[in-house]
Amino acid sequence: MKAACNFGQRRFVFLSDSFYPREPAPIMVRQVRSQEEFHRALAIRLRVFVREQGVPRSIELDDDDQAAIHFLAKAGGRTVGTARLVMRNGQAKIGRMAVLKSYRGRGIGRELLKHAVRTARRRGAEKIFLHAQLPVVGFYAGMGFRQVGRVFCEAGIPHRKMILARYSEFRNSESPRMRST
Ligand SMILES: CC(C)(COP(=O)(O)OP(=O)(O)OC[C@H]1O[C@@H](n2cnc3c(N)ncnc32)[C@H](O)[C@@H]1OP(=O)(O)O)[C@@H](O)C(=O)NCCC(=O)NCCS
Repeated sequence: MKAACNFGQRRFVFLSDSFYPREPAPIMVRQVRSQEEFHRALAIRLRVFVREQGVPRSIELDDDDQAAIHFLAKAGGRTVGTARLVMRNGQAKIGRMAVLKSYRGRGIGRELLKHAVRTARRRGAEKIFLHAQLPVVGFYAGMGFRQVGRVFCEAGIPHRKMILARYSEFRNSESPRMRST
């Protein structure tokens, strides 16, 4: 798209914003600190798991939410992703990883996972694991998680347990666009 204007003898051509390549919005991940942020995290989960994937709300929101550490990801100031970490008996379970559909494939899930793993380590987790939906096993495998055991069904969706066997295998490089608080 372009628009032309004449000013005296000179002709100026203005190109619309969409012509210029946009800088990707910086990604910021932070731990949820207030009820308001907690509700933002739940809103993302309801949109992704309940509305998009058809998981019953009664399964999606569970007792672990009260004790869990929750994370929010923002891109360009908008809340676009969430994850949670449940610490129990020295083990850390990462779950409820969700990025809004139109924001996927921009590294937001990766930054959420890095943040959750780092937090689990800081809290002394001896083991870090998760239950991966089958279509996203590759996402976690790419970050260093390994599949263990058989496929099982959770909330009507086939899953596989995955563990981070060694922290040295975790893909932990800092993204230059990432800030965390
Ligand atoms: C899974 C999910 C959180 C990933 O988030 P995302 O922001 O799209 O992922 P990223 O852009 O950070 O991807 C990081 C890397 O994983 C890869 N990746 C992403 N999704 C993948 C998939 N389904 N299979 C294989 N690789 C995948 C990306 O290509 C990227 O690779 P690269 O580093 O080589 O470029 C997101 O797809 C999502 O919310 N899905 C719906 C909810 C869901 O299924 N959650 C998981 C429950 S277990």
